This record gives sequence, C-alpha cells and structure tokens, in this order.
Amino acid sequence: MTVEQAPYADPIYRILSDHTQVSEWLENLRDSMDLLHCGGTRPDYLALESYFRRNVREHFLYEENVVFPAIETLEPEVAVVELLQRLRRDHAEILSDVAGFFGRLSRLLLRDPQTAETHQICEEVRRLVERILDHARLEDRELIPIIKRSRVHLKDLVEDASPGQGD
Ligand SMILES: [Fe+2]
Ligand SMILES: [Fe+2]
Repeated sequence: MTVEQAPYADPIYRILSDHTQVSEWLENLRDSMDLLHCGGTRPDYLALESYFRRNVREHFLYEENVVFPAIETLEPEVAVVELLQRLRRDHAEILSDVAGFFGRLSRLLLRDPQTAETHQICEEVRRLVERILDHARLEDRELIPIIKRSRVHLKDLVEDASPGQGD
C-alpha cells in the first residue's frame, strides 16, 4: 500500500472525507440555485448526473459492500443491524429517486431543450439534495460513532475486503 492510499483505506477517514466533499458540493449547488432563483440559468445537468454517478453511487457501494458487512461482523446487535438496514433502504430509495429524476429530465430536455420547465426541475434537484444531506447527517450522527468505537478491528476487516489494497 502506498502512503497516498493509507488514509483513504481507513473507513472513518474515507466516509468523513466523502461526506464533507459531497455535502459541500451539494450545499454549493443548492445555494447557487437559490441565488439564481432557478430562473434563466439551469445547472449543468450532465455534470450533475455524472457527479451523482461518480460520487454518491460509489460512496453507497463502498458502504454497502465493504463497511456495513464489516460492522455487522463486529457488532451484530439488533440496534446496529436495524440501523444498517435503514441506511441500505435509504440508499436504494435515493438511487431510485436519482435515476427517476434523470430519466424524466432527459425526456423533458429531448422534447423541449430550451424551455423545459426549469422551475420544476430545480425543485426536484433541491429535494434530491436535501434527501442526500439528510442521509449524510443521519450517518454522521449514528454510524460514525459505531465506526469510531470499532475502528482498529474495522480497519483490518475493510483492508481484507478491499481488493488491491494490500500491495
Ligand atoms: Fe450511506
Ligand atoms: Fe455515507
């Protein structure tokens, strides 16, 4: 493992840094839409879709495939298992909302690229942003303390579960 990979292999570091980076980006997006009152200038939706795909989806996959199974092994208590189930449901709902939104959006833009209902689109983007920020806040409040208290063992399990991390 190289020096650059080391901090990112630590689940607490990776989750917190992903949350900070994604939250700042989403808050900026929301603020800039508020500033523009969603009138005239629309956000760059292609960039938005690619951002969701690269960052939000990848982050959810990392949590579900690497971090959650490790936590379940270390802390199989009912409350922890229920929290992880809730977070998985949240991921599925958010990804389905995001996919539904971009599907509707591409149909709308194909039909009427110039005057597609900007206000309605902005409202939907705003709802998605709030939904994802709520999810990140729930994890910061309830998941991060669990990760912190089992950090040492969790780091070992996560490294074992991450292909290519051990070299
Ligand atoms: Fe999550
Ligand atoms: Fe997360």
